[in-house]
Amino acid sequence: AAALSAAEPSFPDPQSLPVHTALPDPLVLTDGQPVTTREAWSEKRAPELRALFQHYEYGAFPPPAKVMAKVLREDKAALGGKATLREITLSLSQPEGTEIHLLLVTPNDAKKPSPVFLGLNFNGNHALLPDPQIFVPPTWKSHKGQTLEQSRGSEFDTWAVDQTIARGYALATFWNSEVVPDDKDAAEAMLKKFRPSGSAERGPSDTATIAAWAWCLSRAVDYLVTDPTIDARRIAVVGHSRNGKTALVAAAFDDRIALAVPSQAGCGGTAPCRVSEELAKEGPNGRPTVETVRQINKSFPHWFCGNFKAFNDEPARLPFDQHELIALCAPRPVFLSCATEDVWANPSGQFEMLRAADPVYKLVAGDGLGATQMPEVSKPLPSRLGYYIRPGKHSMTRSDWAVWLDYADKWLRP
Ligand code: GCU
Repeated sequence: AAALSAAEPSFPDPQSLPVHTALPDPLVLTDGQPVTTREAWSEKRAPELRALFQHYEYGAFPPPAKVMAKVLREDKAALGGKATLREITLSLSQPEGTEIHLLLVTPNDAKKPSPVFLGLNFNGNHALLPDPQIFVPPTWKSHKGQTLEQSRGSEFDTWAVDQTIARGYALATFWNSEVVPDDKDAAEAMLKKFRPSGSAERGPSDTATIAAWAWCLSRAVDYLVTDPTIDARRIAVVGHSRNGKTALVAAAFDDRIALAVPSQAGCGGTAPCRVSEELAKEGPNGRPTVETVRQINKSFPHWFCGNFKAFNDEPARLPFDQHELIALCAPRPVFLSCATEDVWANPSGQFEMLRAADPVYKLVAGDGLGATQMPEVSKPLPSRLGYYIRPGKHSMTRSDWAVWLDYADKWLRP
C-alpha cells in the first residue's frame, strides 16, 4: 500500500483546483509534463494518482499491519465432498485487537495450487452456504432485515460457490462490516482507530470506510499468498456494488492482485464523478437519474474522506476521475460487469471510464479495451479492459459468475 510518504506533495484546497469539464488526461503529470514511457507511468504518474485519490476521495491508506492466521475450523467434505472449507481468523497487529474471519473454500480435486476469487460480502460468511456451523461475528447485523437463521445460506445463488469450485477456483470472503461497520455512525468509532493521531474528529484526508475495507482485502492477500493451496500469482478480487468499489480500490493499490471484477460498482467506483447536467438533475423523488458525488456523500458520508464532500457542487474540480483508478491496475485485467436496469450505477459511464483508461493500458500493456463502443447486451467483451452488460437488475448472479470465470480462465493462466 502506498502510504503518503516523505515526498508528500502539497495538495491545493479543493476550492482552488481548476474546473476540468473534460476527463483529466491520465498521461499528463500534475506539472503538465506528458507521460510517454512505462517507467514514467509507474514511477511518476501512478504514485501521483494514488496520492491524489487518497487525499481527495478515499482518505489515507493505513500502513501495512502484521497478520497472524489461525484455522478455526476445517471441513474437508464441504459441497458434497468437492471442496475443503476453512474458517481462518486473521488477527491484525493494528488497529489493535482487529480480527477478520476469512472463509476459504478450495477445490478438492486440484492438482496444483488454485487461483482464487477474493471478495467482501454484505451479509456475513454464513449467508454464502447452508452450513449451520459457519462463524457469525458477535457484531453481526442483518443487511436485509432477515433473522440470523433466515440469512444462513440465503446467498447461495448470489455467490454460487459450487460453480466456482467446479471450475477449479477457490473462493475467499469476509463480511465487509466486520472491521468497519457499514453504518455512518458506527463506522466513525472504528475509523478513529485507523488514525495515527487518534483525534476525535476525522480530518479531511483521514482514512474513510472504502479505503479501510480495501486495506482489509490486502490483509487477506497477505494471508492468501502464504497458503500452499492458493496460487499467489492468480488472486482475483471481486465485489458487488459498494464491495465492487472496494475491490477496484484494493487492486489499484495492491499489485499482488492479478485481476479485478467490480460488479455494478457505479459512483465512487467504476462510474465517472463528472456526470452530465441532465443526468445529475434531481427528479421529483429528490434523486438524480444516476448517482452523483453529492448524492453518495449525502447517503454514505462514511465511505469517503472529508475532502470529497468539497466536490459536491463541482465534481469537475476533481484532479482525476474514476478512469484513473482503473488505469492504476494496468497492466492487470479489469472486467466491469453491469446490468441494463441498474441505471443508478451508470452503465454507459462505466464504459466511458474504460475508454478513458485505455491509453494507459496501451502504453503499459500494449493492449487494453478491445472495442470503441459498448458491446451488445449479454455479449461479454473479454479484453484486458473488459466489459459486460446483461439484462436485469442490481444484483450478483450465478450467470454473472459464469462469465467472470470465463474471463479469469482467459487471463489467469497458470
Ligand atoms: C446504494 C449506493 C451505491 C452502492 C449500492 C450498493 O445504491 O447508492 O453507490 O453501490 O448501494 O452497494 O448496493
